[in-house]
Amino acid sequence: MRLARTLCEKSVKTSRLSRPPCRPTALMSTLLIQHPQYAWLQELGLREENDGVYNGNWRGGGEVITTYCPANNEPIARIRQASMEDYEETIKEAKEAWKMWAEIPAPKRGEIVRKIGDALRRKIRVLGKLVSLEMGKILVEGIGEVQEYVDICDYAAGLSRMIGGPVLPSERPGHALIEQWNPLGLVGIITAFNFPVAVFGWNNAISLITGNVCIWKGAPTTSLVSIAVTKIVAKVLEDNQLPGAICSLTCGGADIGTAMAKDTRVNLLSFTGSTQVGKQVALMVQERFGKSLLELGGNNAIIAFEDADLSLVLPSALFAAVGTAGQRCTSVRRLFLHESIHEEVVQRLKGAYSQIRVGNPWDPNILYGPLHTKQAVNMFVRAVEEAKKEGGTVVYGGKVMDHPGNYVEPTIVTGLAHDAPIVHTETFAPILYIFKFKNEQEVFAWNNEVKQGLSSSIFTKDLGRIFRWLGPKGSDCGIVNVNIPTSGAEIGGAFGGEKHTGGGRESGSDAWKQYMRRSTCTINYSRDLPLAQGIKFE
Ligand code: UN1
Repeated sequence: MRLARTLCEKSVKTSRLSRPPCRPTALMSTLLIQHPQYAWLQELGLREENDGVYNGNWRGGGEVITTYCPANNEPIARIRQASMEDYEETIKEAKEAWKMWAEIPAPKRGEIVRKIGDALRRKIRVLGKLVSLEMGKILVEGIGEVQEYVDICDYAAGLSRMIGGPVLPSERPGHALIEQWNPLGLVGIITAFNFPVAVFGWNNAISLITGNVCIWKGAPTTSLVSIAVTKIVAKVLEDNQLPGAICSLTCGGADIGTAMAKDTRVNLLSFTGSTQVGKQVALMVQERFGKSLLELGGNNAIIAFEDADLSLVLPSALFAAVGTAGQRCTSVRRLFLHESIHEEVVQRLKGAYSQIRVGNPWDPNILYGPLHTKQAVNMFVRAVEEAKKEGGTVVYGGKVMDHPGNYVEPTIVTGLAHDAPIVHTETFAPILYIFKFKNEQEVFAWNNEVKQGLSSSIFTKDLGRIFRWLGPKGSDCGIVNVNIPTSGAEIGGAFGGEKHTGGGRESGSDAWKQYMRRSTCTINYSRDLPLAQGIKFE
């Protein structure tokens, strides 16, 4: 954030496009992990070929896949994914492990989670660098998401002494009415490529202290991150003589994901990904009356009013639109500017965009990396074409960069209708649509008119407007901000959104309740049997 702000305030005049070093052709077919400059990958226990299944033991009898570095599309290392037999065995091991994990008092489970946090702290830089290499986000963001996992471990350790239900007044004499919370059992966690550490971390830490065991399937394209994280967690479990299957891993594709969704032994399925896939997952889980926790797409807006402090608006819009190359579910897609500031903000934002330092994401000086895959580049191209067809003007960027890897220009489009079809479609790319508005009523309605409901921000100094924004006729999103970007939420709050975003809440606040089942317990400690509602049955 500070970096982004500095960028808006100072203009640096040197060339921003430092090309990633081109690699000699002879090396192209070899794995990056074989080269001395990537020897640090071994610090994470990674090798040329890696087992993608952990359930106390490492294995992998399924398809062998390779992951690629988005900055140059070179292969990093190979992964042996889970076969269906591996999946079956892992579920059994996890269920077995639950029997003892559920018996451990919550604060003692919290102590294990605290140790996981400490183990992550020790590897934060190298793991952050792997995130950067395999996912493509810049180094500070890669480290930042390991920090999110560390933070949620600290949070969960404290929470492990606080989870509980109320003792409620009973209407009957000699009766106690209490709420008891119990673990669900086995939590399946399916995560997306864009936050390959943090989103698993939120689910993992809260699942563990609430007495659940986990089975994780990360995105196949970030399998090395899943393996490296699991190695760190597994060591803590093993060092504490606990079954490794408490935190199981089954790397795989749609076959494993579908098996998890349909499996009655998976008591909660936490899914992060697209609305389209999330809907299929939710239907499969619902079909068996299972529980799902969904964190799906966003189509987030920033609204800047006439009284907005532009020194906050500009870096906020820049960070939310260009950070993570627009691949956060909290990234801003729509920027609504009051007509009195529209021209000035568009001009200044274009200036800020031109200063963005593009290059290898793991280079600490770089602010903007590649998209995750070639398919994402195609999606970007199609969206820009569509935006033009629908009447938009590309005022900045719009093209694929002449650059190795999946680099596209961060893009600004103006002149579209607020309800143009492309504007209402989430494109996971750094495309920002900018609009002019006249008054609060219309712009609050525009904020809410999309199908998704994840994150939203206004910039204003008007106290009345702030509270209207938070109120029943304000933003309908799960995240409702004032004078900060749409992205970059802290772990302490509940994270998630409404409508097509899926309605789930992860991370902080009382999101832990989603990982437990509630029993309402009425205990009669008298010698009489009065019935509720005064009913006499005699
Ligand atoms: C996501 O994009 O799925 O608020 C998660 C944020 C991050 C988490 C994003 N803390 O941008």
